[in-house]
Amino acid sequence: MVGVSRQGQAGARAPARAHVQPDTRAQAEAAVQARTQAAVEVRKPAPLLVVKDLVKHYPVTQGILRRRQVASVRAVDGISFEVYQGETLGLVGESGCGKSTTGRVLMRLEEPTSGKVWFDGTDWFSLSQRELRARRREMQIVFQDPFSSLNPRMTVGQILGEPMYMHGIARGAELQRRIEHLLEVVGLDRSHGRRYPHEFSGGQRQRIGVARALALNPKLIILDEPVSALDVSVQAQVINLLTDLQREFGLTYVFIAHDLAVVRHISDRVAVMYLGKIVEMADKTSLYSNPLHPYTEALLSAVPIPNPRGRAERRRIILEGDVPSPVAPPSGCRFHTRCPLARDVCKKETPPMVDVGGGHLCACWVRADV
Ligand SMILES: Nc1ncnc2c1ncn2[C@@H]1O[C@H](COP(=O)(O)OP(=O)(O)O)[C@@H](O)[C@H]1O
Ligand code: SF4
Ligand SMILES: [Mg+2]
Repeated sequence: MVGVSRQGQAGARAPARAHVQPDTRAQAEAAVQARTQAAVEVRKPAPLLVVKDLVKHYPVTQGILRRRQVASVRAVDGISFEVYQGETLGLVGESGCGKSTTGRVLMRLEEPTSGKVWFDGTDWFSLSQRELRARRREMQIVFQDPFSSLNPRMTVGQILGEPMYMHGIARGAELQRRIEHLLEVVGLDRSHGRRYPHEFSGGQRQRIGVARALALNPKLIILDEPVSALDVSVQAQVINLLTDLQREFGLTYVFIAHDLAVVRHISDRVAVMYLGKIVEMADKTSLYSNPLHPYTEALLSAVPIPNPRGRAERRRIILEGDVPSPVAPPSGCRFHTRCPLARDVCKKETPPMVDVGGGHLCACWVRADV
């Protein structure tokens, strides 16, 4: 990727900026856009998913007889990223930062407020409901809660068979064969198709959720905190299963999690979200070894390190204050109310996403100099 050079290697920081003049800022933004465009062009192959300036606001209404909109929940407020064929993009941030909303809007379970998405070359939001029904099988989602996401009145066989039946993929004996094969693929017994969801453990239920997502042979699976509700030992089993399936079927994942530890092994790249915006995005090695954004640094400082030497070197950063409301997010950089490095410019101007080298993107006036 093309990018502005950063001074020094790991640990060194770009110099702080005292103030940003409006004209130099416009020039800087033009330069950032040109670099981003060049980066997209240089990187091959073409991404499977391109998300550009995606926004999802929910209206806040008041009044009993005549409801009127008084504000908006800015759940997702202009995010852009790409996901390449066969990779896993980790999407990480504290609860309420807009991760699930992003997933639901990508799935078109909800319509966006604005923004563009291209999925496998198709302008995804321009598809009519009829066109979407035909294409929806290509993008699937696995939810956090493996219990409530499975219909308790249906057998596992019915849960797995229904989407294949509806999409005309298989009927009769062939459908039964596919159901049994899917159960085996996710490490369950073929006889499990006759049982109901409540007869399974949390980890097994999540395997059923994964099998259901796989049933339609998708290109992309959005995994919305798929292991957060599971015991740590079971989490590892489900993550290993997902990794094996990705290798076997060439799947592409967007893996949503609220902490950086969970996505560490499975992700190729990681995007960090704060209050509806992506603040840092990089390949896994760069992000974990050299986090730039103070928010990423704080998240990472909370991740347990197995190596005692690393533990001694790492300083735990406690974030002060609560996450601000997405109804009235802070001006300028949204993180300024909790950032230990905040200065005047941070309150006034929104930092642009800058490629600091090698495709490591960061939005921070102090850590990513334009
Ligand atoms: N249907 C909705 N109506 C109003 N606000 C919503 C709705 N869904 C989510 N939100 C709000 O949007 C913000 C982001 O939510 P969500 O995407 O679920 O975050 P995350 O998955 O990162 O925890 C939260 O403040 C949440 O309360
Ligand atoms: S731009 Fe934001 S993250 Fe960076 S120093 Fe300022 S307040 Fe902190
Ligand atoms: Mg969520």
